[in-house]
Parts: sequence; structure tokens; C-alpha cells
Amino acid sequence: MSTLIRNGLVVNATGSHAADVLIEGEHIAALVTPGFEVQADEVIDAAGKYVIPGGIDVHTHMEMPFGGTQSADTFETGTTAAAWGGTTTIVDFAVQPKGSSLLSTLDKWHTKADGNCAVDYGFHMIISDVNDQSLKEMESCIAQGVNSFKMFMAYPGVFYATDGEILRAMQKARETGGTIMMHAENGIAIDQLVAQALANGLGDPVQHGLTRPPELEGEATSRAIQLAKVTGSPLYIVHLSAAQALDAVTAARDTGQNVFAETCPQYLYLSLEDLAKPGFEGAKYVASPPLRPKEHQSSLWRGLRTNDLSVVSTDHCPFCFKDQKQLGVGDFSKIPNGMPGVEHRVDLLHQGVAKGEITRERWVEIVSTTPARMFGMYPRKGVIAPGADADVVIYDPAATQTISAETHHMAVDYSAYEGFELAGKVDTVFSRGRKVIADGAYHGSTGHGRFVSRDLNQYLV
Ligand code: URP
Ligand code: ZN
Ligand code: ZN
Repeated sequence: MSTLIRNGLVVNATGSHAADVLIEGEHIAALVTPGFEVQADEVIDAAGKYVIPGGIDVHTHMEMPFGGTQSADTFETGTTAAAWGGTTTIVDFAVQPKGSSLLSTLDKWHTKADGNCAVDYGFHMIISDVNDQSLKEMESCIAQGVNSFKMFMAYPGVFYATDGEILRAMQKARETGGTIMMHAENGIAIDQLVAQALANGLGDPVQHGLTRPPELEGEATSRAIQLAKVTGSPLYIVHLSAAQALDAVTAARDTGQNVFAETCPQYLYLSLEDLAKPGFEGAKYVASPPLRPKEHQSSLWRGLRTNDLSVVSTDHCPFCFKDQKQLGVGDFSKIPNGMPGVEHRVDLLHQGVAKGEITRERWVEIVSTTPARMFGMYPRKGVIAPGADADVVIYDPAATQTISAETHHMAVDYSAYEGFELAGKVDTVFSRGRKVIADGAYHGSTGHGRFVSRDLNQYLV
């Protein structure tokens, strides 16, 4: 089966040019000068539209056990929603429970995902139990294409790792070529603030934000950077939300240290004001780190322009408002932490193009090309070029849309972006040559998505 996408503007991270894109089987076969005659089984007219590499969301949590419940999207529903939004690869987190091994955890995540995904997927590993065995198993994970390891400076008693444990895992990462991903919030101090708020009868969702001040994200980020410096480990800060944390990342990058960071759409578009919505409404926005006062947003956009923030992922971790967020009525510390978003990242970041915050090439770099290189999938993914997987999105910059839970495809009963009017819309999506979204309908199939065994971080020399 071959497809020719004609008359579109091919937008890669490196530049944009008019070209026809020939897809043969699962791959991009050629970029053809417009006007050249090429035969194909199907021809699609993309006049007035962009042809971009499929989005890569490197931070999702499908069916993740957390806070006494489980995130609402399965691999099937979550990857289908991803496809609708122009994301053709996700990298999800396999969560090691305390007392179990990394390899059995990885097997468990393979069983959850295998045969159930609409688009391609890879895994990172969450290490919540640092011991001789799990450190040794990091090597086997890397051999199996899982070479990034998330650790937590937050959530004492759950995922939290001490500085000593972090240091040991970083030493192993340095030795093996893995990357340590860090949830950088000072959980020990935060737990004190949470206990004090609750003791004072303050239980509303806004307290989630007030008890996790940005300084404690800045402090933890600086500490993680120093530990990475001492050990020589590459460090990737996940879901960076605060200007203080960005300052620490920027300073480290200015010295040439292998420190990278992502932010998420919720930190670019939502704020503490959403957490402070009346009644229990703010629970919809409870995630960690929390939404910040609005003034942090301009720093984050600047970081995206300067590449001190290299990636935007979603941290997609949906919990239904009705049945799951309600666990925390009267006690904000019991609200399951996480927000939905996998379906709207590409569109939301396109608003940065529409509003003049970033160029369209930088948009593609942030949502696809850099994630591919950072997590060892380039040039198989993240670029429109001959030989690459035909993960291709035809994007209509002139279309408009309004986000709503009524029309989204994630298995969650609310949208954090309800009523947002967006410029631009995903038109057609190919996943490895298979047309999965076209004409406003889903044409994919569960099980089409394959596991992506990833190489090491391609930004390291
Ligand atoms: O609140 C969040 N971010 N939930 C998902 C788990 C994590 O820390 O990434
Ligand atoms: Zn986290
Ligand atoms: Zn997360």
C-alpha cells in the first residue's frame, strides 16, 4: 500500500519546505518535488496544511495504580486518544512497587500494553526501591530498550528516594549510559506543610498548591543537579513547573552539564487560580508539581525558546472527577494526583505558534523531534524523511476547535481545558503507514501499536 500526500508544507525541526510525501508500507519512501509525477494507491491533497512528524509524548501514565485507585485511561483508550490528537508514540512509566523487581515490573507493563495499543509505545522505569538487585537490573532494562529511570524526591513513604539512593542510581546510570528522570519536589518539607494545613482545618484543593511552594521545586531541582554533577549522570527533570526550577536548569546547562527538562501544557496554560475554583472544582487540577501562579508561565515560554526546556510532554494521568477525585473531599492530600491531556498536547502547543511564542519549526521540535532524540528513537521517529517510520500528521493551521469532555476521546469525565478555543486542528494521522485518523473518524485498530525498543539519549557525547 502506498500513499502520496500532495501539496502540503513539510515542517521539520530544521525547516519547512513544499514537498509531496510518499509513504510505502510502514515507512516514508521519498520527499518529492511538487509537480513530479508519482504513482500511489491513494493520493491525499494537503494544500494549505502542514505535514509534520507524529507527536511523541514521553510522559504518560496509563492504568497506573496511584493514590488508592488507578488512572482512568487504559493503554487502549489512552493511545486511541493520543492518535486523535496527532500523537503517534507514547513513552509510559512502568512503576516498580516497593519490594518487587524492576524486571518483573517491566514484564507486567508489557502484558498491560501488548496487543492493546493504537499507536507505538515505549517504557521508562520508575525506581521506588533502590537496592543491589534493582541497581543491577537497570542493566537488563537497558538491554531491553528501557534506559530511562524516574526517581522521586517527593511522596515520602510511596515513591520517595533518599539522596543516598538517588546517588547510587545515578552512579549506575553514569556507568551504563542510562538517564535519570527526576520528580524534583522536596517531599519531606512538603509533608510538613500538608500536615500543618490539615491540622488548621484547611482541606480545600487550593491547599495542594499552597503546600507545595515553587521554592521547594527549585531546591529539589538544584539538589538533583548537584547529585548528577557529582556522579556524572545525565539528568532529565520531568514536569518542570516553577521559574525557580528553570533557573537552576538554565544555570546547569550554561556550564555544559548534561541536564535537560520538560514542562507540560498545564503549566503553560493553567494556574493556581484554577486550583482555587469554588467548591471542589479545583480538584480537577490537582497534579504534582501543582499549577503555579500565572507569572511563572512567561518564564516557561522563554525556556522553550532558549531550549532550557527541550520537551513538552503531558504527564497524562487522568482520574475521573466523579468517582476518583472525590476521594479527597475535605482532605486535599487524598485527591489522586494527576490530570488528563494526552489528546491535546500537539494542538495546545500550536497555540504557541499562533500567538507568536515559538516558531512552527520549534513546535515540531518540542512535540516530536527532541523527544525522539532525547529518548533514542531518532531518526526512526521525529522527522519527515525517507526511511523514517511513516508516523505522519497532516495539520490544518486554519481550522479551529473547542476542547470539551463531550467530544474528547480520553476515558475521563472532564477536561482541564473545557471551552478552550484553539487555532489549528489535527486533520489526518498515519501511524507506521496506517491511516488511523481521517475525515473526523478513527480508522485505527487496537493492537496496531508496537513496543519501541529505544537507544540511549542522543544528546550525550
Ligand atoms: O500528579 C502527577 N504528576 N501524577 C502523576 C505521577 C507523577 O508524579 O508524574
Ligand atoms: Zn512526577
Ligand atoms: Zn508523571
